[in-house]
Amino acid sequence: MEKFLIIAIDGPSGVGKGTVARAVAAALGYRHVDTGAMYRAVAWRALKDGVALGDEPALGALAARLDIDASEGSVKVNGVEVGGEIRTPEMDAAASRVARVAGVRAALVALQRRVGAAGGVVMEGRDIGTVVFPAADVKIYLDASAEERARRRVHDAGRGEPRDPERVASEMAARDRSDRTRDVAPLAAAADAHLIDTTALSIQQVVDRVLAIARAAA
Ligand code: DC
Repeated sequence: MEKFLIIAIDGPSGVGKGTVARAVAAALGYRHVDTGAMYRAVAWRALKDGVALGDEPALGALAARLDIDASEGSVKVNGVEVGGEIRTPEMDAAASRVARVAGVRAALVALQRRVGAAGGVVMEGRDIGTVVFPAADVKIYLDASAEERARRRVHDAGRGEPRDPERVASEMAARDRSDRTRDVAPLAAAADAHLIDTTALSIQQVVDRVLAIARAAA
């Protein structure tokens, strides 16, 4: 492809955004940026530093001063790899709270724009096509039934011990509600996004569809 596109991939948790975004980035030789990991990194650091998750000004200040790198599958906070520590059930819940804070979102959106501005990037999250890059070259919104998303999350090998499926489903539903109803940048498909329902599709089928859309836009 001749153009260095900005490809935005949004959708709820457990939909397979990470796997798809990584594969699309690898196929195109693009950079993969996981913005959910940035919210997780802020939550992780807040818990480490004893910043209360209800203290919005302190959380915003923390997000603005942290050096976060969430590209190519690695997540570094001030140069230190935080990897698996940010993908626990405790961090799922903490990140969802932190993501409601306007000051945190402002700091991370600014970072995401800096990282993606030059293009050649596949950025995944909840508000990439609506807020971070409303003029992205390609906008994809992935969805799947709540049951299928919970099933995928239970089988996610990168998340340590197997967990009780019912508990995973109810925690995921609570986070979805929080993501969809928050005041700032709620999860929603951009009006001009390509909607892909992945419930009955394999990862490869989803990747192929996204690549076809990207190649048509280049
Ligand atoms: O995709 P994830 O589960 O790693 O995201 C962690 C939390 O951050 C989740 O509650 C949604 C939120 N998030 C967000 O609000 N905006 C983004 N661009 C990415 C994630």
